[in-house]
Amino acid sequence: MNFGIAEKQITDQTALKEKITQLDKSLEQKFSDKLEVCKDLSRVLVSFQGNKSRPSYRWYKYKEGFSASLIDYFLNANNLNSGTILDPFAGSGTTLFVSSERGLQAEGIEILPICQQLIKKREILETKFTEKDASGLQNFISEKSWEKTDEKTNLNELRITCGAYPANTKDEIEKFLAVIQKEKNKNVRETLEVALFCVLESISFTRKDGQYLRWDDRSGRRVGMKKPFNKGNIPNFSTAIIGKVKEIIEDYKQTLFSKMKMNAEKSICMKVLVSA
Ligand SMILES: C[S@@+](CC[C@H](N)C(=O)[O-])C[C@H]1O[C@@H](n2cnc3c(N)ncnc32)[C@H](O)[C@@H]1O
Repeated sequence: MNFGIAEKQITDQTALKEKITQLDKSLEQKFSDKLEVCKDLSRVLVSFQGNKSRPSYRWYKYKEGFSASLIDYFLNANNLNSGTILDPFAGSGTTLFVSSERGLQAEGIEILPICQQLIKKREILETKFTEKDASGLQNFISEKSWEKTDEKTNLNELRITCGAYPANTKDEIEKFLAVIQKEKNKNVRETLEVALFCVLESISFTRKDGQYLRWDDRSGRRVGMKKPFNKGNIPNFSTAIIGKVKEIIEDYKQTLFSKMKMNAEKSICMKVLVSA
């Protein structure tokens, strides 16, 4: 019976996809005399891939995010170096941070809590982080105190995320959470939280795919699935977190973080824009 429902959903989804493809095509035909292909906009430039080696933008792999170079491209093309920019769908904040670096006032709205947290914490880092904080971070990863404690802070889970981490990785995350709560330096603590956000997907059995989570076969959650899925190397917690913190320190030393001018609303764009 359930199988019947699942099959119907798949058929509905396929029909919907076909409908969307048809509508896309007719829209393209309708405006064909107005559309032109811009050869500058390569795949790397328009997607998050372009952020892979750019300091600060490379920390969190938000696949839906724009590349910083794409925003540079548009701001340069329109000679925009002052004024205010509004990004009502701010994502992890690429448009806001790039605009802000160039001296524009950046205003953003974002619905997803993880992105709101990332923007807020990165903004704190970019404006308040000091050489002393960089040393504090370096000491923290050299001591690896999460490996020496038995104390743990519970990692909140949703039903869809149960079993997302190998057992020892979940253990280490919970020890790490316990240790960072005791960190007295607020900037160091906030940075460690950012670093944790940034490694969670890489150390898990999952990969975010649009609105869905894809599960690696090693998770044991894919019994009966036809297509195999192996996401490749899953690093252990310490390797991943140390690597990420080093990356943040390196980016700080390289750029000394620019001073930002921005305001990011943690909300839904329609709510904010309609009430403004
Ligand atoms: C393509 S991403 C944005 C990329 C971003 N502009 C950048 O500079 O990288 C679109 C974002 O819109 C957010 N979003 C979707 N609907 C929204 C809404 N109604 N209000 C606020 N944010 C929304 C999504 O969570 C997602 O992060």
